Amino acid sequence: MSKKAGSHPADGGNRAASDFVVPRSVAVIMDGNGRWARSAGFERIRGHEKGTDSVRTTVTECAQLGVEALTLYAFSEENWERPKREINLLMGLLRRFLVDERPTLMQNNVRLLHAGRRQRLDSDILRLLDETMALTADNSGMRLCLAISYGGRQELADAVRSIAREVAAGSLAPEAVDEATISARLYQPTLPDPDLLIRTAGELRVSNFLLWQISYAEIHVSPVCWPDFGKEQLHEAFRDYGRRVRKFGKVHG
Ligand code: IPE
Ligand code: IPE
Ligand code: MG
Repeated sequence: MSKKAGSHPADGGNRAASDFVVPRSVAVIMDGNGRWARSAGFERIRGHEKGTDSVRTTVTECAQLGVEALTLYAFSEENWERPKREINLLMGLLRRFLVDERPTLMQNNVRLLHAGRRQRLDSDILRLLDETMALTADNSGMRLCLAISYGGRQELADAVRSIAREVAAGSLAPEAVDEATISARLYQPTLPDPDLLIRTAGELRVSNFLLWQISYAEIHVSPVCWPDFGKEQLHEAFRDYGRRVRKFGKVHG
């Protein structure tokens, strides 16, 4: 057990049986699929394929450790600018994932959610997404939120637009707009803000991910590319989290 584990606020994590703290809410920027593939002499898509195994391992392990909410950055609004062929291959993997992972989600009592804009996604992807969300809707364990066609700025723009509409309609007073008003209009308003943000492949940037929600998240950057991210790297992230002292702007101790 980490010495500092007990210093975490009650809402920030559960003590686990081994030497780390399990955060309540985790978000992951799954990066480095292309680099992994290139360094192994493959096409980029092989990295995305291999990355699906890391998704399964991470989802299963987080669910079993008692994480309440896991948000995975699968496809950003800016990723639409990638070559058409790569986008098509990524969407093909997503289709497969949304069907093949159903037994794993059910076995682990995981409920699937989506964060992002639906407009640009193909209708068959939306159908599979909706079917899997409906299938898992009554699962009471971890909530798995896939960020697909997601952008943090776009999410805030969408929230501001919906607030503007309500103000124009007279159902919301401008003076009543506060942080809770904005939080309530995000794509998944009931998910707790991430306690821990993990990014793989060593990049020190947030790439338009959950800009509002990560204001007090602890950040762990793993050097390994996403296809090499497994249980060991997840546990290392939770050990790193267990060593953090969260202050939320206050004076600690
Ligand atoms: C992350 O891997 C997967 C997506 C963004 C869809 P990348 O495809 O960004 O891999 P690198 O960063 O080019 O290595
Ligand atoms: C962030 O990775 C998006 C996802 C992981 C889905 P990118 O590879 O798109 O981010 P940048 O371009 O390195 O900032
Ligand atoms: Mg990348």
